Amino acid sequence: MPLFQKKTKELSQLPPPEHIAIIMDGNGRWATKKGLPRTAGHAAGSEVFRRIATYCRDIGVSYLTVYAFSTENWKRSAEEVSAIMGLLKKYLFEALEKMERDRIKLKFLGDLSRLSPELLALIDRTNAVSEQYEGFQANICLNYGGRDEIVHAARAFARACLAGEKDPDSLTEADFGNYLYSAGIPDPDLIIRPSGEERISNFLLWQSAYAEYYFTDVLWPDFTPAELDKAIAAFHRRNRRFGGV
Ligand code: FPP
Repeated sequence: MPLFQKKTKELSQLPPPEHIAIIMDGNGRWATKKGLPRTAGHAAGSEVFRRIATYCRDIGVSYLTVYAFSTENWKRSAEEVSAIMGLLKKYLFEALEKMERDRIKLKFLGDLSRLSPELLALIDRTNAVSEQYEGFQANICLNYGGRDEIVHAARAFARACLAGEKDPDSLTEADFGNYLYSAGIPDPDLIIRPSGEERISNFLLWQSAYAEYYFTDVLWPDFTPAELDKAIAAFHRRNRRFGGV
């Protein structure tokens, strides 16, 4: 067997990363290239999220975390913000109906207090249904910012200290992690950013300490399971040392 084929086969037999995170970038450029409004890019992007989440579940990934709306995304036009929120509502309505069949638990990370009452009610219903299931979990970051998350956690810890429940000097990294939106979720192993941009953009700042990054020029609406396979194969070729030798 040629060496390349052998390597590919061996890589495909390795277990997938436990936790994959994705910055779903490039929706606007994808739409503009096609002469469509930016919102059409987000609609295509939400369908790709559906496909990739299902694929992650099928190949044995335990957690998929996606950046759907950042604390900075409110700067976009009211029309675009409302289109993204509308897509989220549509997705949640549909997900709620077939959660049992799809076996995809959902969790929302971020400062949800700024979301509309309608979206919040849907999130509450989704959380209640998700709690009944074990298995693959998709985390949707909404009004999420990595710095905001750390400040939010620091405030909660400070309040616990003032209430006499915690001692500042005994705080460990693991304890601090329990104050983050991602409490209970293992750190991401692989973070993917499509669209050619190579920056973190305030995504999972605390949790990405030892994550492997994968960048590709493919725009998110064009991202396929085959692209995810490439990212996973690249991940398996990395030598993760976690600061050791
Ligand atoms: C980044 O691309 C994408 C976003 C800010 C929005 C992502 C939202 C969705 C895919 C829809 C709803 C999500 C779910 C989970 C159902 P961009 O607009 O910054 O693209 P650009 O850099 O090409 O302008």
